[in-house]
Amino acid sequence: MQKDKILLTGALGQIGSELSQTLRDVYGEANVVVSDIRRPADLTIDEVIFEEINVLDTQRLGEVIAKYKITQIYHLAAVLSASGEQDPLFAWQINMDGTLNVLDAAREFSLHKVYFPSSIAVFGKDTPKHNTPQHTIMNPSTIYGISKLTGERWCEYYFRKYGLDVRSLRYPGIISYKTPPGGGTTDYAVDIYYKAAEGKKFECFLKENTYLPMMYMPDAIKATLDIMNAPAEKVKIRSSYNITAMSFSPKEVYQTIQKQVSDFKISYKPDFRQEIADSWPASIDDSVARQDWDWQPDFDLSKMTDDMLINLRKLKEVLV
Ligand code: SER
Repeated sequence: MQKDKILLTGALGQIGSELSQTLRDVYGEANVVVSDIRRPADLTIDEVIFEEINVLDTQRLGEVIAKYKITQIYHLAAVLSASGEQDPLFAWQINMDGTLNVLDAAREFSLHKVYFPSSIAVFGKDTPKHNTPQHTIMNPSTIYGISKLTGERWCEYYFRKYGLDVRSLRYPGIISYKTPPGGGTTDYAVDIYYKAAEGKKFECFLKENTYLPMMYMPDAIKATLDIMNAPAEKVKIRSSYNITAMSFSPKEVYQTIQKQVSDFKISYKPDFRQEIADSWPASIDDSVARQDWDWQPDFDLSKMTDDMLINLRKLKEVLV
């Protein structure tokens, strides 16, 4: 069998930078091609195969797939919810045309598999807010959510019509300490840990009782690899699977951090992101993913908080 050769788009983002490392560990450095819209100035690791790809440039995408004989794409390039609201047409172009370009290239080059990250943003105000089911009313209100939901429909369409093996997860807010996220509504839950570890106070852009579904990065990576490596017949949903690990509010994460950083201070100054958060589920029912391909998270809020603070303090020591 041909060895898998993997291409990641948007690989310098929050998920991509950790997922690409895990994929290099699993598949070997020579078999993972990392791409993003611009080559980072500080890319010093020689083993990393980097290619500049703008996902709107179909010719370039095809060139890279052909050059490395790519067999799988993890298509991570996207504009997130809060940034998307600043320039909706641009977000639609990147998220929608970019996804279609990847799906179509995958069909043209007969790739084995495609991974498409979706989001809790596909749900909207008419969706049941608590334990949001896999199949329910969607009606997203952000351009990010609209483009992710449309992306999900296209994924299922390519699977049914062309037999393309597309797999997808609806990520909740992802928390990590290695690469910060950019332009999301759930980003406060990352920033709060950075501020606590730096001994600074934190101003939250959401109200204290805004519950959102969340997940620690190691679980997000595990879920991604689990679904991508599951036998095809177990992946019964070809739009996107609900997954979650925990649900908390700014107040709750603050109180959990405060157990370790007793003088940590928080204040609240909700902005336009409050309305986005209010349109999303507070918690997610991911029983279908648990049933179909044995999804199971490892981290809850307190375990994640311990790990985040240990690692952020270590990073701080290195920088000082
Ligand atoms: N983390 C994303 C955002 O806030 C949601 O998928 O935009």
